[in-house]
Amino acid sequence: MHEEKIKRLATMKKSAESGGGNERIEAQHSKGKLTARERIALLLDEGTFVELDKYVTHRSDDPTLPKFYGDGAVTGFGTIAGRQVFVFSYDFTVLGGSLGEMTGKKIAKAMDHAMKVGCPIIGIIDSGGARIQEGVMSLDGYGDIFFRNTVASGVIPQITASIGPCAGGAVYSPAMTDFVIMVENIGQMFVTGPEVVKEVLSQEVSFEELGGARAHATKSGVAHFIAKNEYECFDKIKKLLSFLPQNNTEEPAMVETNDDPNRIDADLINKLPENPYQQYDMKEIIKSIVDNGDFFEVHELWAENILVGFARMGGRSVGIVANQPQYLAGALDINSSNKAARFIRFCDAFNIPIVTLVDTPGYLPGTDQEHNGIIRNGSKLLFAYCEATVPKVTCIIGKAYGGAYIAMGSKNLRADINYAWPSAEIAVLGPEAAVTIIHRRELKNAPNAAETKKKLAKEYRDKFANPYIAAEKGIIDVVIDPMETRPMIIQALNALANKKEARPWKKHGNINL
Ligand code: HXC
Repeated sequence: MHEEKIKRLATMKKSAESGGGNERIEAQHSKGKLTARERIALLLDEGTFVELDKYVTHRSDDPTLPKFYGDGAVTGFGTIAGRQVFVFSYDFTVLGGSLGEMTGKKIAKAMDHAMKVGCPIIGIIDSGGARIQEGVMSLDGYGDIFFRNTVASGVIPQITASIGPCAGGAVYSPAMTDFVIMVENIGQMFVTGPEVVKEVLSQEVSFEELGGARAHATKSGVAHFIAKNEYECFDKIKKLLSFLPQNNTEEPAMVETNDDPNRIDADLINKLPENPYQQYDMKEIIKSIVDNGDFFEVHELWAENILVGFARMGGRSVGIVANQPQYLAGALDINSSNKAARFIRFCDAFNIPIVTLVDTPGYLPGTDQEHNGIIRNGSKLLFAYCEATVPKVTCIIGKAYGGAYIAMGSKNLRADINYAWPSAEIAVLGPEAAVTIIHRRELKNAPNAAETKKKLAKEYRDKFANPYIAAEKGIIDVVIDPMETRPMIIQALNALANKKEARPWKKHGNINL
């Protein structure tokens, strides 16, 4: 009797675990894709996955719609590096991983559990979108997921892996999560596909060009990371999680990195060219100051004029925000403001201190920027810095002019500790622009205007474009020797570890979206 029951369970298990059947599993493999369960096995610690709702089936009254145990997604819980997570992984072998009523309920249940437990939720997307045969109940399911994405935002980390199609309104759930990672040549995200584009706009565009990983990593900014293959994708998710806490009431774990917090770098100043107009790679400075040179960059290929990403300093997780003089001279523009603002808000929500490195000539001028909303978008960066109450340490390395000086974690935006290198140039305008305004008459009458301008610019730089005026006023706390940047930032982070900063109660702010 017992034996029969156990046998039945084994049969049902086997049937559920074969998803849409061997033929469709083979088809999935032949497209170079792993199955939903294979993906979860790669992501989670071995043997820790507990599958929920394995025997759920759809309850559509369409008799032509085949039933498969588990329906369109595999959901459950397990651990990553010993830490609890919940997961859902769309099963493309079951009706193309489409989302009907019951798949929606399964995903919503996993999200509810993650919220109750206070742990990250990871979604793996490989889905044909709303299940056509289930009509409005599919849309109902998505609505439930969007609501949960919103409530969970800033409470638990939400991570999406796009490893297959993700079309129509279904893309909005990933977009509401904190980080999206797409696998090259496999992940596809678009609101309307190439056929609709052709019909409406008479434009020929491939799936990859329209909504592939590269397009979203370089052009739209939808993808925070791209991976060459599924293996790399799951490795990146694990690494990302290692910098994050389980939820917004916790702090990220301290990690023993064996990199001396007092390590100095006597060569660091040489990474900065003596000529302030020469480009250089800010990543070299970041790598020198963080533990073991390990900088886990977010949005590496989008808005490259600003760098954001995670690192450790003295074993503590930090979010780095830095101008990148190698692109657009490090000027701030619409995309870089959006990129940094969202990253800062993530760090603030999850108790990750923010370290800002500044070298920017200002906001990028031009009609393109103005008409596309640099005012609206640029203000997000100010808002995000002001709003953030986590420890904030800023170091000005080179140029910090005008509004961009204020925006990049200045004292007035409530940075806690503001350092500057002796090479810092803090002023309202860059020397050349400033002298053409304040010495207009002199330049007009000068026999050799170019020479005079050069001389005046040098005088201006000596007089105004240095860190000492700001230091005299206490707006810069310490002018540091560049070689001490790492120990000085770590000491500031240690000092600020118990920082508490209260703000007036409000329902929520109204950041200029
Ligand atoms: C039901 C679907 C489905 C769907 C795919 N299938 N999408 N079933 N509803 N939305 C089924 C197919 O019938 C097929 O079943 C199996 O999944 C595999 O699909 P194929 O087309 O054979 O696979 P492939 O060639 O790889 O193409 C994948 C695809 C294509 C690009 C995703 O299937 C496709 O374009 N699907 C429709 C996408 C779409 O328009 N979805 C609605 C988006 S609107 P069999 O039985 O043959 O295995 C939306 C609204 C959300 O999602 C709103 C939220 C607010």
